[in-house]
Amino acid sequence: MQENTEQTFREVMRGYPTGVTIVTSLSEAKPVGGTMNSFTSVSMTPPLVAVFITAGSNTAQAIAESRKFNVNILSASQEEDARKFADPDSAMRFAQDHFESGSNGIPVIPGSIACLECTLEDQIPVADHIMFLGKVTTASHLKEGNPLLYYRRKFLELPSDP
Ligand SMILES: Cc1cc2nc3c(=O)[nH]c(=O)nc-3n(C[C@H](O)[C@H](O)[C@H](O)COP(=O)(O)O)c2cc1C
Repeated sequence: MQENTEQTFREVMRGYPTGVTIVTSLSEAKPVGGTMNSFTSVSMTPPLVAVFITAGSNTAQAIAESRKFNVNILSASQEEDARKFADPDSAMRFAQDHFESGSNGIPVIPGSIACLECTLEDQIPVADHIMFLGKVTTASHLKEGNPLLYYRRKFLELPSDP
């Protein structure tokens, strides 16, 4: 890609608003998770979702190992969680000895508005990322409220309940 095209690509993507999720999994029974906005639904029948995660990252390795993951959809009040789960220092992400789990045993982030529990359907390397395709086994609304948004490298919330 030409340099100006790459720069414009970045600018265009920054101007595309998304929700914010924390994708969680388990590695040797330890909770693992990272902030991800490359989340999308793929199909309703069967219920499939996808998320693109940096190859070799802790979260990618844990999903490949456990073959399960949860997509926690963050509420407008969870900017701090979104930042914490994107910080390269992953030690502070989970309280040391306790974490809440879904019915699949995978961590649930308290305060999220919804959680999708998934089993790994497929994993496809795409450049320096891996596309994890998950089949939703349980979908739960956890809390009323607006979602956290990400736009122009800022966390935002909707001006009011639409
Ligand atoms: C708003 C936001 C969205 C992000 N989305 C993704 C994503 O979709 N995929 C990804 O690999 N990293 C994404 N990141 C970066 C990860 O959160 C970050 O690399 C994190 O440290 C991953 O944790 P891990 O290396 O322990 O797995 C995002 C960061 C932020 C702030």
